[in-house]
Amino acid sequence: DNPEVQSLEAPPDLVRRPRRLRTSAALRESVAETHLRPTDFLAPFFITTGRDLAEPIATLPGIHRYSVDRFLLEVERALELGLRSLLLFGVLPDTWKDPFGQSAADPNGPVPTAIREARKAFGEDVVIYTDVCLCAHTTHGHCGVLKETPRGVQIDNDRSLPQLAAMALAHAEAGADFVAPSDMMDGRVGYLRRALDQAGHTGVGILSYAVKYASAFYGPFRDAAKSAPSFGDRASYQMDIRNAREALREAALDEAEGADMLMVKPALAYLDILARLRPQTQLPLVAYNVSGEYAMLKAAAQAGVLDEARAVRETLVAIKRAGADLIISYHAQEALAQGWI
Ligand code: PBG
Ligand code: ZN
Repeated sequence: DNPEVQSLEAPPDLVRRPRRLRTSAALRESVAETHLRPTDFLAPFFITTGRDLAEPIATLPGIHRYSVDRFLLEVERALELGLRSLLLFGVLPDTWKDPFGQSAADPNGPVPTAIREARKAFGEDVVIYTDVCLCAHTTHGHCGVLKETPRGVQIDNDRSLPQLAAMALAHAEAGADFVAPSDMMDGRVGYLRRALDQAGHTGVGILSYAVKYASAFYGPFRDAAKSAPSFGDRASYQMDIRNAREALREAALDEAEGADMLMVKPALAYLDILARLRPQTQLPLVAYNVSGEYAMLKAAAQAGVLDEARAVRETLVAIKRAGADLIISYHAQEALAQGWI
């Protein structure tokens, strides 16, 4: 008498049944298109001056600023998890800062020191990437040097290039594998390439932050790196969030200037950009799952709104599925240690 049961007696003429490929976990695993491996990740590290320091960062729960000695212990842990790639950021006290960010090129700064020590301790087992930008080194917190113009204070694109090159050279001298310029000045990839080559560092690569948007999701990073601009914003150098074609142009320019890898940043609100850039280049693509994206998930998990393990895995899978070869993520260590991925 039940009409639903009666309708089952005449099965639909249904030849194609996608659910057949989802029958068991073993079968789903065998047809999965996207896989995350520990070597897919670059683990970000904030390096400070001082000794025996692990300072928690209020807006980035679970992430710390480490002095070089404590950083080395963390690298040991990371290697045990299968991670190989490290991305280093320097965090400087105000006394190190000046309007030109000269401390960025100091061979005894936290990042060059961390590079030398990590290389000494771990040799070729680690791939060392370093962020190249002036904002953590300038008193004003902008990514380039300033100039007075008839229209007010502006970022001096061309005078920023030698400062950035000096920073990149300090990292190369210390033994970095890749420098990663994140300043968004025009022409900096070509300028860094020439500076590195002229100094004999032809083997040091450039991971360009080619497509970097002026995003609200960098807030926690700026607390961590003490690099927030003291006036204005970064809209005159970082990209307008409304633009996609411009991203493809930025990427093409950096490739032509000699970049070895290209980055899209942030990741989650820009997966469309990653997917559109994928067929345009044969270079490795890197996505930066930025601080605000991490903090957002952490806050939701801590509020009991989401299952953190599943949400983190889904997020990282999505970034890879969209076209990233490598992912920079603050989730990397915890996700691997907890078996979330
Ligand atoms: C420095 C830099 C920033 C980030 C990476 N390199 C901050 C900024 O541009 O203001 C952001 C990374 C993150 O939010 O995790 N220019
Ligand atoms: Zn910067």
